[in-house]
Amino acid sequence: MKQVERLNWIEQVILDFYGQEPVALRLIETILYSIQAGGKRLRPLLLLELLEGFGLSLTTAHVQVAAALEMIHTGSLIHDDLPAMDDDDYRRGRLTSHKKFGEDRAILAGDSLFLDSYALVASAELSSQIRVELIAELSKAAGTFGMVGGQVLDMEGEKRKLNLSELQAIHAHKTGKLLAYPFVAAGIMVEADAKMKNILQETGEWLGLAFQVRDDILDVTASFEELGKTPHKDLVADKSTYPALLGLEEAKDYLEMSLDRVVTGLVALEEQAGFQADKIREIVESLRLDG
Ligand code: IPE
Ligand code: IPE
Ligand code: MG
Ligand code: MG
Ligand code: MG
Repeated sequence: MKQVERLNWIEQVILDFYGQEPVALRLIETILYSIQAGGKRLRPLLLLELLEGFGLSLTTAHVQVAAALEMIHTGSLIHDDLPAMDDDDYRRGRLTSHKKFGEDRAILAGDSLFLDSYALVASAELSSQIRVELIAELSKAAGTFGMVGGQVLDMEGEKRKLNLSELQAIHAHKTGKLLAYPFVAAGIMVEADAKMKNILQETGEWLGLAFQVRDDILDVTASFEELGKTPHKDLVADKSTYPALLGLEEAKDYLEMSLDRVVTGLVALEEQAGFQADKIREIVESLRLDG
């Protein structure tokens, strides 16, 4: 299946969900404004590529799980941009949700996206055992013990200089857990054994850490046009980031090293589970920053 077909399918599943009889039309408008702003869809695409790599033919149920993850991610961005958090004016190349619709609507749109995702997974045509496991792991990745926990550490960390292990814990939670979820969810859906699930989880967590290190580097090196969000925000806030703590060159080396760990995990999956890693390797390689 072509990438554009996968992207359209993810979008359609979300539109179908929000096509139900509305209670508050303006809430749906706010939600879809952020959903349709042109995010990269990295997390859902990773999940679909992983499932295909394991030899599954994609079904609507798989896409619903992928879409649910994108919904939580989008909600996390809406809240991350709020004045009480990072106070950002642009996201995905457009005004942030609160700039466009006001803080009340942005907060509530984020709440909706967090909660609606579970209904979507619950409605997927999968065995009830698999659905329950997917829901439990999604909550773990997104909530108090995952992204939200990491965001709290991130906010607290802004008030002081962090050391590298503190920063790593923040990144591993605020970003790493949601990025590892495609690997965890794929393990559940292909009914992998415990050893394989471990390799999947670890590989996903390395990718998650790499992705936030990359985001920290891009804050320093990329333009508004490339990012769709204001660059140098971390720099101006004098925030503890990988480039701030390690220097730009060493942060880039750390990104390379962590992406190498992801590739090592993919090789292990190829050797031990007959996994076809070509497509997912392409995504991982596309995250390297040249030079
Ligand atoms: C941005 O995530 C927030 C981080 C976790 C660094 P993405 O870079 O995946 O954002 P979109 O979804 O493409 O907008
Ligand atoms: C985002 O981290 C992590 C989230 C859970 C959304 P950042 O605050 O660095 O993400 P950007 O740079 O605003 O996208
Ligand atoms: Mg933030
Ligand atoms: Mg931010
Ligand atoms: Mg950032």
